[in-house]
Amino acid sequence: MQVQRVAVLGGGSWGTTIAAVMTRNVEVTLWARNADTVEEINTRHTNLGYLPDATLPEKLVATTDIGAAVGSADVVVMAIPSQHFRSVLRTVKEHIHAWVPVISLTKGLELDTRMRMTQVIEQELPGHPFGVLTGPNLAREIMAGYAAASVIAMDDEVIVRELQEVFGSGLFRVYTNDDVIGCELGGVLKNIIAIAAGMGDGQGAGDNTRAAIITRGLAEITRLGVAMGGRPETFAGLAGMGDLIATCTSGQSRNRHVGMELARGRDMEEIVAEMRMVAEGAKSAPAVMALAKEYGVEMPIASDVFRVLRGDATASRAFRGLLRVEAGAESEP
Ligand code: 13P
Repeated sequence: MQVQRVAVLGGGSWGTTIAAVMTRNVEVTLWARNADTVEEINTRHTNLGYLPDATLPEKLVATTDIGAAVGSADVVVMAIPSQHFRSVLRTVKEHIHAWVPVISLTKGLELDTRMRMTQVIEQELPGHPFGVLTGPNLAREIMAGYAAASVIAMDDEVIVRELQEVFGSGLFRVYTNDDVIGCELGGVLKNIIAIAAGMGDGQGAGDNTRAAIITRGLAEITRLGVAMGGRPETFAGLAGMGDLIATCTSGQSRNRHVGMELARGRDMEEIVAEMRMVAEGAKSAPAVMALAKEYGVEMPIASDVFRVLRGDATASRAFRGLLRVEAGAESEP
């Protein structure tokens, strides 16, 4: 496989950023639904609604025509929110060439089916190699050119090495991993813990509290992730601990922002209404809780966050219990 052209679907902050980074290596077409966004990228080389400070490469071409983007692509990259992922893939199916790999950038689960995004790809596009790119990758920092590392996870050893070269460049360093389940779940599950960290920070708790939430959160993530088939060491790596630290500590995180707003006593409807972007942790929380139950895994921090998201508890009340030990287990891990 010689990759020359890539289609990135989704003109939000991360889709635009990864598309911009990849123009250093290959021809990239970015598909966005919004015609104004497409026009802005093509004529002014900006996407100010999502990346306020960035100038995009002139080589980056955007389109509202998904068929044109996908029909000429050697690789399709999905930067689409989890709850729209399947419907966009169904359109992709009409245009994609056989054997073209499909890579997910999305850190969420499908609510109805509780599926990971690569499972959705496998179901909708059988026969296509699939994978996930994930890690501590706050879009604006990468767009600004700061050093960052990411992981591409696929089953196919040969294709993953080729895609490592397609995605990585300069200070954006891409590692490979064959634990697709673990890498993908690391990205999904850290979002809920980041909401908890935001709830703490929003109430003025200190660094000790945040460190405890991150550490005990990692224990929860690892328990469920391993029960679902991920490898323990994946959760100690970039896709697990790395992304958890970035998201729980960054002022740019949407999930942490949701937690901070909940801590101010606001309800979810209000918070979501004024956010232009999706906080995947809030969307995926019911699916995560259902999976924890199905696999018999205790997730006390995630459960408390879920109660607050549902409106069954206030952030300040939940926060007092956030660090309680799991039933009967007073020792680490
Ligand atoms: P948020 O979705 O919370 O902004 O997190 C971004 C992210 O996943 C960085 O790796």
